[in-house]
Amino acid sequence: MVGSGPAGIYAAEALARNPDTMIDVLDRLEQPFGLVRYGVAPDHPKIKSIAASLQQVVEDPAVRFLGGVGVGTALTLTELHRHYDAVIFAYGSAVGRRLGVPGDDLPGSFAASDFVAWYCGHPDAPIDAFTLAARSVAVVGVGNVALDVARMLAKSDAELREVDLPDHVRRVLAANAVEDVHLIGRRGPLQARFTTKELRELGEVANADVIVDPDELKGGEPDTGEAAPVARRNLDVLREWAERSPQGRPRRIHVRFWWQPLKVVGTAAVAGLDLERTRLEPDGVLTGTGETTTVEAQMVLASVGYRGLPLPGLPFDSERGVVPNIDGRVLRDGQVVPGEYVAGWIKRGPTGIIGTNKRDARETVQALLSDAPTLPRAPVRDPGVLPAELAERGVRLTSWPA
Ligand SMILES: Cc1cc2nc3c(=O)[nH]c(=O)nc-3n(C[C@H](O)[C@H](O)[C@H](O)COP(=O)(O)OP(=O)(O)OC[C@H]3O[C@@H](n4cnc5c(N)ncnc54)[C@H](O)[C@@H]3O)c2cc1C
Ligand SMILES: NC(=O)c1ccc[n+]([C@@H]2O[C@H](COP(=O)([O-])OP(=O)(O)OC[C@H]3O[C@@H](n4cnc5c(N)ncnc54)[C@H](OP(=O)(O)O)[C@@H]3O)[C@@H](O)[C@H]2O)c1
Repeated sequence: MVGSGPAGIYAAEALARNPDTMIDVLDRLEQPFGLVRYGVAPDHPKIKSIAASLQQVVEDPAVRFLGGVGVGTALTLTELHRHYDAVIFAYGSAVGRRLGVPGDDLPGSFAASDFVAWYCGHPDAPIDAFTLAARSVAVVGVGNVALDVARMLAKSDAELREVDLPDHVRRVLAANAVEDVHLIGRRGPLQARFTTKELRELGEVANADVIVDPDELKGGEPDTGEAAPVARRNLDVLREWAERSPQGRPRRIHVRFWWQPLKVVGTAAVAGLDLERTRLEPDGVLTGTGETTTVEAQMVLASVGYRGLPLPGLPFDSERGVVPNIDGRVLRDGQVVPGEYVAGWIKRGPTGIIGTNKRDARETVQALLSDAPTLPRAPVRDPGVLPAELAERGVRLTSWPA
């Protein structure tokens, strides 16, 4: 298994049910569980606690965690095949997409994934990556990650007291200067990607007023007039907020719709974000209306989804950012590659909650098990050889539980 996020761990769980199957779960990081550890917002302890059930899988005697092993860097695909009859690639797609507009590279303009990685204490995120001196922050995108980052920016020190945070993050959040957070959707409320429970939570932030312009809630009705139930429920929540009067709380979260980013403004650093008003044409195409505005902001977070990266030696669909596959079997030039499988975000793209990866991993494991009788056997069968080889070349392996 390459990757110990939910997809890799659920696949290991499904495989471990088969007698005589030994599974190694390799991860480039020292600690397992991927975005459950380094993505899920720290103020969601219930979801974080899913790590405890993932932990049980790693404690199964048929499963071994090998941390600190970057596949494609510390270990090549050819080497993997020397040691394993089959390999499931479940290495996720944890790189945040950028806006791709002028000024996006100015200091103060980040992918939201950088902020997430920092507040979750990801080992790749520099401790001093964020100072939070901005008074106004523009968060582009209206998905669940945008809600997470907006909440983390808007909560008070007191609201974060019970939250498990790295010390350096707590210190910076305690001095967070932000007053306004602007969540900016390029389409309408019915097209927003967030889920209602998560949206409601934004209104429960005691330290912030949520401000919605009722005019921006109009439009975007599907031709049939029947929006998906989740979109309807979201709209109900937003309408209720639009009717509320601000309570004068220390921070404000402005939820905006029908604005697309044109340019990150600034000379030495971010000073604002130019936006253009949009509308949906009857055929569903989004167009700019030519009307523009500028949101003052000293920090811009692009929360516009994630993308997968290719792994050396593995086929890759660069348009979709996934490893091409059929039911989890890796495809090279349209042909199934024997013994290679994918699961999770790198299989289907960066959408879906943790539980989605369980079904997805099971489908992959089913394909693997039905192929197993015909797969060539790996030449090296001693599980002690790979760790010894890695140690010899200076790879510092970690185990889990540590
Ligand atoms: C910010 C954020 C918050 C989220 N919050 C929630 C939530 O609250 N609730 C919910 O249900 N879902 C949430 N999700 C969605 C959920 O996290 C994903 O569905 C899930 O993590 C995807 O699982 P995965 O195993 O495919 O990828 P990941 O979780 O990304 O795991 C991939 C693993 O592969 C490892 N890896 C990467 N490259 C290599 C390599 N070359 N060699 C070895 N290992 C490698 C990584 O270190 C990582 O451990 C959130 C997603 C994000 C981005
Ligand atoms: N609590 C939870 O359950 C939880 C928490 C976090 C994440 N997750 C899951 O993790 C997955 C990833 O979440 P996500 O929020 O990163 O992605 P997402 O749900 O795909 O949302 C991305 C947002 O970015 C917008 N966008 C994309 N490109 C844009 C551009 N160029 N300019 C302006 N806006 C742009 C999208 O708008 P369009 O729709 O117009 O493209 C959309 O609003 C989702 O499945 C999510 O549900 C779940």
